[in-house]
Amino acid sequence: MSYEVLARRWRPQTFEEVTGQTHVTTTLGNGLRTGKLSHAILLAGPRGVGKTSIARILARSLNCDEGPTLKPCGRCSSCVEIANSTSLDVQEIDAASHTGVDNVRELRDSIRYVAAPGKHRIFIIDEVHMLSQAAFNALLKTLEEPPPRSLFIFATTDPQKIPVTVLSRMQRFDLKRLGSAELLARLRQITSSEGIELPESVLRGIIREVEGSLRDALTLLDRLVSGFGSSITEEAANTVLELVDRRILLDVLDPVLAQDPAAALSAIRRALEKGIAPTRLAADLLEEVRHHVIASIVDEPGELIQLGQEEVTEIARRARKHDVETFQRLFRVLLNRSQELGLASRPDHALELAVVRLATLPSSEALSSLIARLEALESGGSPAPEGGGSGARGSPRAGGGRPRPATGFRGSAGPQSPSPRRSETSKPPGAGAAPSPRRDPAREARLRAEAKSHPLVREVMDVLDAEIHEIRTYAPAPGAPTADGDPS
Ligand SMILES: Nc1ncnc2c1ncn2[C@@H]1O[C@H](COP(=O)(O)OP(=O)(O)O)[C@@H](O)[C@H]1O
Ligand SMILES: [Mg+2]
Ligand SMILES: [Zn+2]
Repeated sequence: MSYEVLARRWRPQTFEEVTGQTHVTTTLGNGLRTGKLSHAILLAGPRGVGKTSIARILARSLNCDEGPTLKPCGRCSSCVEIANSTSLDVQEIDAASHTGVDNVRELRDSIRYVAAPGKHRIFIIDEVHMLSQAAFNALLKTLEEPPPRSLFIFATTDPQKIPVTVLSRMQRFDLKRLGSAELLARLRQITSSEGIELPESVLRGIIREVEGSLRDALTLLDRLVSGFGSSITEEAANTVLELVDRRILLDVLDPVLAQDPAAALSAIRRALEKGIAPTRLAADLLEEVRHHVIASIVDEPGELIQLGQEEVTEIARRARKHDVETFQRLFRVLLNRSQELGLASRPDHALELAVVRLATLPSSEALSSLIARLEALESGGSPAPEGGGSGARGSPRAGGGRPRPATGFRGSAGPQSPSPRRSETSKPPGAGAAPSPRRDPAREARLRAEAKSHPLVREVMDVLDAEIHEIRTYAPAPGAPTADGDPS
């Protein structure tokens, strides 16, 4: 006998067995019990979260010899036929391959056949958003005058593509992505029943990959089982699934936050030596930084972060030591750099330098101080002394009683930590002297050159570059090809 994939073998057979989605199963269960089920039901939600399963359970619950029941017996001819897709009363249609109006006409014709005594005619239409406009119109008529003892169950990943006229005829249920706790519980149950031995960290790694889809999780598990049998080590799993151990990511992130470029460099080197693709590492680092951004602004990130509760608590604890701006800037610069990784001839080297860059980003305080000094220069006054801008214009946290090192950034403009590459003597002679009423072009040029090579200015340019890059990437492209003038 051929191997039956886990997703199929573990398709839930009763509402009770459905993981999560209780907001859907409870209401449907009540409708079944009271006999007040809507005759057209829409199950909307991402893939692999239980739409088809719930539709089939509903069909069996309604048509089971013992039905309507919350616990279809699974043995009567009706239950067995529905499971084998041979029931004459229950028809499953994949709209993706039956988009035309003819298909819906056919369907309407077949609806006329009355169900067996005591049974319902049930139509399960999957990916219903794929129907054509004409098909929807034909469907609408049926929904307006549904034959007695008929039930339409529609499933879709794309409810916004369904015309409002049709939508308004259905009772809609939105299935959610499964939470990490729900996924973990179900995966634990399945692996232990199947006798699959693997560390929980592997299950968590799978969960991070699947964006709340249980089917995807089971598919990944299938891949591991077919590769390693029923005993799976973390290392083996990580290679097959190309998962990156979160510890590796934190090993990189920690020295970055501590502004220790040498340690950050060796951490990223170690990660690369494990054979993880640079683009993959960069993407996972981005996700890790995103976790920290979220944890530092939301008290209970819940489903926003697909990790175990302990891990979320740990992230929140680490995130609190820094301000949210710090993580946002890390994210922007890393995003900018990682988009270029694919173009680099040596992506590993590009990633190393990106990480070094992250570990040497100056603090938000240092940037505000720089801006204050530039403004002073511009207004013709003498530049404010280094580090002197963190007063009124400083970040809201500066002077707020929290010691600056709490951000983890040394801030190369701070008076207590002069730039490592530039000594105080590299200041133009005269800087800080009384403003001269006459313009001195030579001095201005010198100042400008000086400013350009200042590490903070380069940093501002980097951040601006990243912003511009983001805007270019995500803003709608200017529509007309004539944006730069008429080509003709
Ligand atoms: N909520 C859930 N509870 C239990 N198993 C689920 C759930 N969602 C998905 N699965 C698993 O994934 C498989 C596919 O689910 P399915 O209901 O076909 O998802 P969808 O129709 O939303 O894409 C099921 O056979 C089952 O093994
Ligand atoms: Mg489905
Ligand atoms: Zn039955």
